[in-house]
Amino acid sequence: MKIAISGKGGVGKTTLASLLAMVYAEAGYKVIAIDANPDANLALALGIPLEVAEQITPIIELQDLIYERTGAKPGTIGGTFKLNPRVDDIPDRFSTERSGIKLLVMGTIKGPLAGCVCPESAMLKALLMHLILRRDEVVILDMDAGVEHLGRGTAQGVDAFVIVVEPGQRSLQTARAVKRLSQGLGITRCYGVGFKTKSEADRQFIRDNLPELPILGFIDYDEGIAQADAQGLNVYEAVPQVAQSVKGVSDKLEKLLSKEP
Ligand SMILES: Nc1ncnc2c1ncn2[C@@H]1O[C@H](COP(=O)(O)OP(=O)(O)OP(=O)(O)O)[C@@H](O)[C@H]1O
Ligand SMILES: [Mg+2]
Repeated sequence: MKIAISGKGGVGKTTLASLLAMVYAEAGYKVIAIDANPDANLALALGIPLEVAEQITPIIELQDLIYERTGAKPGTIGGTFKLNPRVDDIPDRFSTERSGIKLLVMGTIKGPLAGCVCPESAMLKALLMHLILRRDEVVILDMDAGVEHLGRGTAQGVDAFVIVVEPGQRSLQTARAVKRLSQGLGITRCYGVGFKTKSEADRQFIRDNLPELPILGFIDYDEGIAQADAQGLNVYEAVPQVAQSVKGVSDKLEKLLSKEP
């Protein structure tokens, strides 16, 4: 199972990524959670202590490794380098483990190299392709609202593209835009999860405004989630009613996927 999570800033993507990773890990699956955000904080959401999280070097910053694998020094544009560097050993060597979940922090390419065809981007693309297309583990990908991390081939290996929405026009607009982008990549299995809803009216608002997106369920607004965040706790372990809600989400997902051709 390969799940990519997207949506507007601050809606709850990282929270959902941590929750789904926990559901599958608890069910006995091996799980790889990938943090593909510039502002990486999935480690904390999984309950990895701050001191440990701060020691994680994003893959993109492993300069010697990138040089060794691509044949070119990171930070250079142009020149020749391998577009398909070896990456199969990276998930095991460079992940941080917590409760049966292997966390990989990708890092992002910033500044003049953003969007470049450079050794760093070749490394990230190859790694994502490997994780999505070649690994047997459950893979949960915490993304931002863009889909640029995913090449077409990689995107089509994703079983479910999950868009997090909250009851507000801005997050709905982002959801529609993300859905269009993902369709452009050939992704057909796109679903929504409502977050921070406070009433049945909120939930209905989301359903009514996104008729094109099957909704897997809702993670209602819960003080416990905010408190777990403040204390650096794993929400799945700290807030039992939320763990229950996310199991509903994953059950619905399994059900819908089993019906897909
Ligand atoms: N259902 C909820 N109830 C209460 N607070 C929530 C809920 N879901 C998320 N939050 C809080 O909202 C904030 C943003 O959540 P989160 O970091 O998961 O969003 P995100 O989409 O990953 O954000 P970003 O775009 O910055 O990566 C966090 O402080 C989180 O604890
Ligand atoms: Mg996030």
